[in-house]
Amino acid sequence: MAQTIKNQIIEGNIPRHIAIIMDGNGRWAKEKGMNRIFGHSQGVETVRKIVEASSEIGVGYLTLYAFSTENWARPKKEVNALMELLVSTLKVEITKLHKNNVKLHTIGDIAALPEKCQQELEESKKQTENNTGLNLTLALSYSSKKDILNAAKILAHKSVNGDILIDDIDESVFQQELSTCNFPDVELLIRTSGENRISNFLLWELAYAELYFTKTHWPDFDAEGLYQAIDDYQKRERRF
Ligand code: IPE
Ligand code: IPE
Ligand code: MG
Repeated sequence: MAQTIKNQIIEGNIPRHIAIIMDGNGRWAKEKGMNRIFGHSQGVETVRKIVEASSEIGVGYLTLYAFSTENWARPKKEVNALMELLVSTLKVEITKLHKNNVKLHTIGDIAALPEKCQQELEESKKQTENNTGLNLTLALSYSSKKDILNAAKILAHKSVNGDILIDDIDESVFQQELSTCNFPDVELLIRTSGENRISNFLLWELAYAELYFTKTHWPDFDAEGLYQAIDDYQKRERRF
């Protein structure tokens, strides 16, 4: 079955940029009588599977919402566990990612992360910077509203300094000041775990994206789920 849907989608138009709101780790763990942190570590397994599958079917850009600015308000213990998980996962996975020609990027306020995370991310990005395969972007301490505000401020400064005319500020000039300036717009957004909202993720970049919501919690999501989302995307596309 998995093979069938996979074969079917690779004959069609694979979205160039897929973004995912990886939600439901906590609920998944709770349903199993476990703590939320266990859910997050299971979530990492899903990340591994989805990165591999995306890379294999030729997705160009995969952007994963790993930690929002709002997530800082969670209990300290959970925040610390998430940060630890980021470091330990990068340590273990980066060699394989590199071997698979994946190029790692980040968006968000990386300076707000613990020093250890910043270092690990820096090294991982450096190691993979010349790779030409999947562009994997982790959104960390990310807020799309902040990113848009920041772009507006940069352009306001440029205008005050006489470096740009207000009438020359168009969509493409604005887009160049976003943290996602080097990525194409998102074509498919997936959110797991049943919430139908965007939660301050890629507000500008999602303008024309197809939105796909599934009830599956992130730790239960897999390559098959990804293929299904792409199949759904391709069916909607064919309607136009
Ligand atoms: C998503 O799962 C992971 C992060 C936000 C880091 P949640 O932790 O939001 O899980 P739920 O939504 O509480 O089930
Ligand atoms: C969105 O999930 C953020 C990430 C997946 C990192 P949340 O669980 O934090 O979002 P809300 O609180 O349900 O909107
Ligand atoms: Mg959640």
